[in-house]
Amino acid sequence: MFNLILFGPPGSGKGTQSEKLIARFGLKHLSTGDLLRSEIAKQTALGVEAKKVMDKGELVPDEVVIGMISSAIDHNANVKGFLFDGFPRTAAQAEALDKLLALKKAPIAVMLALEVSEEELVKRLMKRGETSGRSDDTNESVIRARIAEYHKKTAVVADYYRKFDKVTMIEGEGSIDEIFSSLCEVIDSKI
Ligand code: AP5
Repeated sequence: MFNLILFGPPGSGKGTQSEKLIARFGLKHLSTGDLLRSEIAKQTALGVEAKKVMDKGELVPDEVVIGMISSAIDHNANVKGFLFDGFPRTAAQAEALDKLLALKKAPIAVMLALEVSEEELVKRLMKRGETSGRSDDTNESVIRARIAEYHKKTAVVADYYRKFDKVTMIEGEGSIDEIFSSLCEVIDSKI
């Protein structure tokens, strides 16, 4: 099993690159943002509560997202590996993920961290907000709150994996294909 984390701030291209990477490497894509939006679309109790938090640009409680990921891992027993996108986003989530993967004897092989400037992130997300229908993209102050939340709670997750020498930084500005090539080069060297 080959497990990787695609990491980076909101708008850094995690979703865009995940689609291409799962096609190339045959991994199972697990995005907590997508899982939460699916709960919102179904108007479940979890979705209703999560939407209130997401619309402020804040993080959903750890126990909610850890529960979702744990169940998704259990439901995909025979995959080649997982590509985690938007998870883990706190140190507690990283520790919980390591425990879940230890049960499968399949630790995280690598964290690929996309680097993009804040102005580029805001520009991309404002542009996507014109058409995406994502309520957390329509307003610049919510976009900036998401980025601030990333610096406050999520950036430390890279430090956690750095301790195990698992982080590779990737230039996240440039064409989608150029960035994809850089990501593939690292994965090819580890897989
Ligand atoms: P989530 O869905 O994970 O969103 P995010 O991290 O804010 O990331 P985005 O989807 O906005 O950006 P991305 O990096 O995937 O970039 P994308 O490829 O889409 O989380 C949403 C919310 O859910 C959180 O705020 C939180 O409330 C909650 N949540 C989720 N996970 C959680 C967790 N683990 N714990 C707690 N709460 C959680 O690209 C963005 C745009 O840029 C697109 O329009 C794309 O076309 C464009 N683009 C991509 N690459 C390029 C490029 N190279 N050049 C130009 N444009 C590009």
